[in-house]
Amino acid sequence: MTTHRFFSRGPLTGRIRVPGDKSISHRALMFGALAVGRSRISGLLEGEDVLATAAALREMGARIEQDGDDWVVDGVGVGGLLQPTSALDMGNSGTSTRLLMGLVASHGITAAFTGDASLSRRPMGRVIDPLSQMGASITPSPGGTLPLMMEGMQPAVPITYRLSVASAQVKSAVLLAGLNTPGITTVIEPVPTRDHTERMLRGFGAKLTVEEAGGERTIRIHGPCDLSPCDITVPGDPSSAAFFAVAALLVPDSDLVIENVGLNPTRSGIFHVLRQMGGSIEELDQREIGGEPVADLHVRHSALTGITVDPETAPSMIDEFPVLFVAAALAQGTTTTSGLDELRVKESDRLSAMAAALTLVGAQVEECGDGLVITGTGGAALPGGGPVTTHLDHRIAMSLAVAGLASDSGVTIDSSDPIATSFPNFIALLDKAGAQ
Ligand code: S3P
Repeated sequence: MTTHRFFSRGPLTGRIRVPGDKSISHRALMFGALAVGRSRISGLLEGEDVLATAAALREMGARIEQDGDDWVVDGVGVGGLLQPTSALDMGNSGTSTRLLMGLVASHGITAAFTGDASLSRRPMGRVIDPLSQMGASITPSPGGTLPLMMEGMQPAVPITYRLSVASAQVKSAVLLAGLNTPGITTVIEPVPTRDHTERMLRGFGAKLTVEEAGGERTIRIHGPCDLSPCDITVPGDPSSAAFFAVAALLVPDSDLVIENVGLNPTRSGIFHVLRQMGGSIEELDQREIGGEPVADLHVRHSALTGITVDPETAPSMIDEFPVLFVAAALAQGTTTTSGLDELRVKESDRLSAMAAALTLVGAQVEECGDGLVITGTGGAALPGGGPVTTHLDHRIAMSLAVAGLASDSGVTIDSSDPIATSFPNFIALLDKAGAQ
């Protein structure tokens, strides 16, 4: 474990570019691996989570190689995944696990899934339930967790599944199982979640329809599908950009442009909430890349005011709450969040991890069952301190790094290692922006 102290050396300025979107990178590799022929991906996130997906797909027969700055994937075709000869090591990645379980579910292969201590605590029952209904046999560890064994079913049975948790991972697992399932597999989403799977599967030629009525989305996939290879450009990850946006809002005199940020409406809730708090975040050069809306974000230091965050925005910023809590800790007045039970089953229990960490560095935080209530300093720096415990959670580590930039004495985190799961050059980019 590498402890690291983050402290401010001045404003964040200039132009930076954050790495590719994690969700889109996973899906580009998976769909490329299922297409017949060669797909090319530019801007792939080369973080540990995505590399875990690549390794598992190679284990199941796909060829995935770096080619200069791009990655090329030679797919095996839907139905063509091979029996892996060793356990699929998912590392820290819930997305790799749940989406790949969906793929295995409708192939006639057996696979063991393992992961690190954080992933081995996370609930898999949410995907085991629908995938078992489709015919897969899944034996998890007690409590429905990894390590688990699963045997896919070919042909699998198409189902209609109504999501009981707002989870793009569960939605995607069922849709991916549906790719190799004869007939129509249907997922009903009472609350919209990130829709990269739907957008990208259509791009690869899948027969997929989306119907919206009364606030619900019904997604149908007609299987078995053939996927055609695609060239994909992955936009910058809004979840990674959020750390720099909050840092620039909090550190006096900052004036930063974050280029090429994906702004899919199912992902961009954090920027709306920061603007509601008074943050100056402008979208420049709005454009579309690879079927996803993209813009450059111009962020300037701003005085923030506490707000009550509408729980309905939660799915569109589910990974950004840890860094929002840091913004709240420096705002004027109180920020109240609720409806965030899902944060307790992420890479760590993010409500209790952030409450403990922020309290340790001098913020005023009250932890409730499904959210935090934070009373901010009104713009004054936090005292700082640490070491805070990051619980193998990259987003806790980076959020506390941002808190360090807005503190008097700096913030020490117990380990900066988890940052590599989603944002390997985070510290290098902080240096480039002049922040530390
Ligand atoms: C993801 C979906 C989200 C998010 C995760 C990535 C995805 O999880 O937290 O980091 O790529 O589908 P849930 O859909 O389970 O909320």
